[in-house]
Amino acid sequence: MIKVNCLNPIAACGLDLLTDNYEKTDNFADANAVLVRSAAMHDLELSDNLQAVARAGAGVNNIPLDKCADKGIVVFNTPGANANGVKELVIAGLMLASRDIKGGMNWVDENKDNDNIGKDMEKAKKAFAGKEIQGKKLGVIGLGAIGVLVANAATHLGMEVIGCDPYLSVQHALNLSRSVKIVKSNEEIFKECDFITIHVPALDSTKGMINKAAMDMMKDGAIVLNFARDVLVNDDDMIAALDSGKIAKYVTDIPTAKTAKAKNVIAFPHLGASTAESEDNCAIMAVNELVDFFENGNIKNSVNYPACDAGVCGSAGRVSICHKNVPNMLTQFTAVFSDAGINIDNMIDKTRGEYAYSVIDTSATASDEIVSKISAIDGVLKVRVIK
Ligand code: MLT
Repeated sequence: MIKVNCLNPIAACGLDLLTDNYEKTDNFADANAVLVRSAAMHDLELSDNLQAVARAGAGVNNIPLDKCADKGIVVFNTPGANANGVKELVIAGLMLASRDIKGGMNWVDENKDNDNIGKDMEKAKKAFAGKEIQGKKLGVIGLGAIGVLVANAATHLGMEVIGCDPYLSVQHALNLSRSVKIVKSNEEIFKECDFITIHVPALDSTKGMINKAAMDMMKDGAIVLNFARDVLVNDDDMIAALDSGKIAKYVTDIPTAKTAKAKNVIAFPHLGASTAESEDNCAIMAVNELVDFFENGNIKNSVNYPACDAGVCGSAGRVSICHKNVPNMLTQFTAVFSDAGINIDNMIDKTRGEYAYSVIDTSATASDEIVSKISAIDGVLKVRVIK
């Protein structure tokens, strides 16, 4: 029985995909698999039982990826599953920043008991006049699943769109509208755009990327949208730029204690993926990834181990091994099987940075003794008998 712990509520349509081979546990220490949304896992003790973590969402900055990799725990995410939900909120953000919709709504609320509201609003409305987004230039930094959807949608709204992503995948490039111009550097986006939206993960290389130097390059009155992670923006520099008028509006789905109270900030409480559709899509994708991993040993959409597709096992036995990416590992694994008189039918070994993953199909199921011998090899992190 595979024990699954949910650190956050996960949509029922995903959990329903878990068969009788799985049982839910409230005890994190007992779990073989964890489903998580935004719960912080950095300070949790990772038990030897834990084999996989699936993040129902894209960002994984709440999960200690290296610590997990070092314990042979494969971490998955669900890229693209909530991209439409986030895209729709970004489009709302563009509108809210260019028209004073909130100011106007507040005025109606304040005047809801005014019998002359119909007449008075015709005088009051000039205070809430705005600009249209059609014809304005949008820069999209990061053309992953969300960035591509935002860029494409903005072209349909009549915006001129330029995008930058040094790691643009073939799949995302194929999905990108031909109306979107790709530029080589963020600097081009900073210098040219009326609106700038960021869709990159929080990495050491991206933290604080929207800082004074970046904003100094921007047009006066530029509008910055951040629906990715708070740390991408240097709060103090942003507040100074908003105070001086250099940046007209900062629209964010991840306000901080500083930006939530700053002037000209339009902020939401991390609502991008909070739609029924996104929650369902993420839960289904996360559970399917776990099931394929536990039942076949396959890895799809991992953020700390390599992708590996060994299909469904047609042999009598299958073992998966998480290990360090160092020389001579495969020779040692095969020696353990040959010493036990077991044939290897098929073997896959994939690497990703410091880590590697092997799936070995064999003529007989691996015994406890074989598992112990492989586990004892220096550099082996986790061994699992799948069949
Ligand atoms: C994500 O990382 O997928 C989004 O920020 C949404 C979320 O965390 O739920």
